[in-house]
Order: sequence, then structure tokens, then C-alpha cells
Amino acid sequence: MIVLGIETSCDETGVALYDSEVGLRAHALFSQVEIHAEYGGVVPEIASRDHVRKLLPLINQCLENADLTRADIDAVAYTAGPGLIGALLVGTATGRSIAMALDRPALAVHHMEGHLLAPMLEADPPEVPFVALLVSGGHSMLVEVRAIGEYRILGETLDDAAGEAFDKTAKLLGLGYPGGPALAKLAKQGDEKRFSFPRPMTNKPGLDFSFSGLKTHTRNLWLNSEQDETTQADIAAGFQLAVVDTLVIKCRRAMQHTRAPQLIIAGGVGANLALREALQQAGKKHGWKVSYPRLEFCTDNGAMIAFAGCQRLMAGEHTGPGLQAFARWPLDQLPPLGATA
Ligand code: KG4
Ligand code: ZN
Repeated sequence: MIVLGIETSCDETGVALYDSEVGLRAHALFSQVEIHAEYGGVVPEIASRDHVRKLLPLINQCLENADLTRADIDAVAYTAGPGLIGALLVGTATGRSIAMALDRPALAVHHMEGHLLAPMLEADPPEVPFVALLVSGGHSMLVEVRAIGEYRILGETLDDAAGEAFDKTAKLLGLGYPGGPALAKLAKQGDEKRFSFPRPMTNKPGLDFSFSGLKTHTRNLWLNSEQDETTQADIAAGFQLAVVDTLVIKCRRAMQHTRAPQLIIAGGVGANLALREALQQAGKKHGWKVSYPRLEFCTDNGAMIAFAGCQRLMAGEHTGPGLQAFARWPLDQLPPLGATA
């Protein structure tokens, strides 16, 4: 089965063609980052308009790269939530229209299920059961994956998402938008031990996160400092280490709690090399396998949506013809695989 995957939930237009027999045939991405940078964050209306502009050309580009024609598409999978509603509706309307024109089934995909399953696109895919650390710009959660479609949320952020904390701290330090990658780059030059940072919620039991206190601590530190380049890099390094340590502590707890043999890292913050390295070492020490998607499939992309959609479409699922998108859509409300067939 060849599935066209469409991702338009935020500021990336992602398209892919996934073949259940041979794997990923093609993928293409247009990032709107530069368009939103001058506003210091994503402007929803601009995001929607740009998805309209880029989506069809990217679909054509993917078909060409895969040496396929429209008639080869067996089904369409599109992100229907959670995300920016106007942006989601562009992918939803386009996906449904293509499916209708070709007389093929279409499926509404949950964006976070896409992130969760993204490591399965790699050569040595993780096997269920596993625990997933899902850390993106909008979400931070630990999820027990017993099977595809069977998700139990073990812990969530009570305030800011990990990526949001990176972005806001980067903005405070004058690093622009989106700040996560810029902060990570600067952190390499800094002394992570010069200032002390809290490890939020690690003294209490449980698997929830909170990053707003760490953000306030960082702000106070910066506003009361010399604000020179060395301090900027040292604060970036100390902040990153605090986030990484906190995430590692919570992952260790989740692995102990579930006794799962494998941890996967997904979502945009999963592109952070310090986090990957620290979790890899923790895995070695405690005897669990750690896997993650390649860097480009950590952040939003069409491949993860095509893949997640393909799993459900092959189980016989499809979504009715209505144009429905969901700004909010709890992950644990997803039906088990094949349930809506
Ligand atoms: O998954 P994603 O592309 O979009 C959402 O669904 O939110 O995640 C984007 C987030 C942003 O907050 C971005 O700053 C963060 O991931 N991010 C990083 C890195 N690369 C992306 N954060 C820390 N270090 C990185 N290398
Ligand atoms: Zn995402």
C-alpha cells in the first residue's frame, strides 16, 4: 500500500510517500521558520496561508522523486490534530480532496502518534512495548506504548513544554526564534557548571514535568548578570544541562516503573544532541535500549504521518468524509489499531 502523508499542524509543510512493502519512497519539507522569525513566533494566519502555497507543489515534487503518479496513491493520511486549527484545515481539506478525486480512503492522523512512531522509520526499528519520551514545542510527556494504538500517559508537563522552555529561554538570551537549536549550539561553548540551576520536580515522586520555575530562575540569573557573551553561553549550557538531567531522571523512573526494555525519544527536542547522548549513556548503564529517529524526523515531517497513517489504514481504518480537524486531541483518546474499521 502506498500512502501519501500530509503534515501541516504548525509551521512546517511536510509531505511523504510511504510504501508498506519497501518503506519510505520520498519525502519533502518546507519550513516556515524564516517567515515567522521576524515576529518572534509562529503567526497562525501566515502559517495557514503558506501551507496553501506550498502543499501541492511539495506533493508533486514527492511523486516525481519517487517516480510515481497520482494513480499510484492507495490512500491518504493527513494530520488532523492537535495543532493550529487553520493550518490543520489546509492539510485536512487537501488530503480529503485528493482522496475523493482518486476514490481512495483517507485517514485523520494524530500528530503525536506520528512523532511516537517516527523511530520505526529507521533501519533497526524499536519493537513494542517501549516507553517514549515525547518532547516537542507543544508537548512534553512520557508514554507507555504497549502496542501501536495502545498508549498510556505516564507523565506530562504541568506548564511549559520542553521545547517551549528552550525557545523562551533562547528569546530571553537574545538568540531569536526558534531558539532551541540556537541555544543548543551556544551551550557547546559554555561552562555548564558556572551557575547552578534547579532540576524541577525531581525531588518529588511521579513522572510529571514542570519547566516554568527553571525558566524564571534563568531569567533572574540573566537579568542580574553582566550579560556578556561568556555569561550568555554559560547560562545556555547550565540551562540545557538542567533540562537534560531532569528528563533523564524522569526517563529512568519511567523505565523502572514499567520495566519496559526500550526507550525511544521523539519530538523536536529529540534533535538535541546533549539529550540523546545523556539518554544513550543512561540506557547503557541501566540496561535498556535507546532509539530515536534521524534528526530530520525528530521535528515535524510528513514521513511520520505517512507511516503512522499506513499502520492504521492497513488495519482497515479510515475516516469519514467530513472535514474535521482538532486543535486539541488527547493522545490517550485514540482508538486501538483497527477499531474504527
Ligand atoms: O516537534 P516539533 O518540530 O514541533 C512541535 O510539534 O512542537 O518541535 C519543535 C521544538 C521547538 O521548540 C524547537 O526549539 C525544539 O523543538 N528543538 C530543539 C532542538 N531542535 C528543535 N530544542 C533543543 N535542542 C535542539 N537541538
Ligand atoms: Zn511536532
